[in-house]
Amino acid sequence: MKRRTIVLAVIFIAVSIAFAGWVSAQTKLAPNGAAVWDFIKKADYAKKWKMWPDTKPMHRGVDPHGALLNVYVNDAALKGIAAKKGKLPVESLVIIDNFNAQKKLEFIGIMYKIKGYNPKDGDWFWAQYTPDGKVVEEGKIDECIRCHAAQKSNDYVYSSKLK
Ligand code: HEC
Repeated sequence: MKRRTIVLAVIFIAVSIAFAGWVSAQTKLAPNGAAVWDFIKKADYAKKWKMWPDTKPMHRGVDPHGALLNVYVNDAALKGIAAKKGKLPVESLVIIDNFNAQKKLEFIGIMYKIKGYNPKDGDWFWAQYTPDGKVVEEGKIDECIRCHAAQKSNDYVYSSKLK
């Protein structure tokens, strides 16, 4: 191979890697349960993401969530919680790991905010998964919205006051 070809190839690879990194740093996801699972799995959220500020690992849960819970947030949600503006920003992603009393992971729930997705209910996309990533339910899930609507003035979230 010519030296120039090698140089060009190296530049091309470097740019591709930088671009892929940039793309993966953007959360922007479609309202699609499988795509969101793919993203959070690759992100290795349970190891790499922060927990919702001031929530404890394996805190006691309430029905229909698990007996023990971990709540994780992406950077957008984390910034929104700190900003105390009463709402979380678009692209906030919150994950709840639901464990039974024996600390076995039973299911995973998510809320992901997408601009214009469901304005009357806070623009949240909801999904529930089995621990191996099978989508149990997804979308504008009535059951989730009905209960979380008790927190409508707090952008549908329970874990802390947003103002
Ligand atoms: C009967 C009420 C109720 C229902 C139904 C419900 N939740 Fe929740 N959810 C809660 C409560 C209470 C919390 C706070 C739990 C804690 O202490 O960490 C919570 C927390 C969460 C959180 C963490 C963010 C927050 O609100 O603090 C997510 C994500 C979540 N729920 C997703 C879901 C999904 C997805 C569904 C439907 C499949 C659902 N929930 C159904 C009551 C409910």
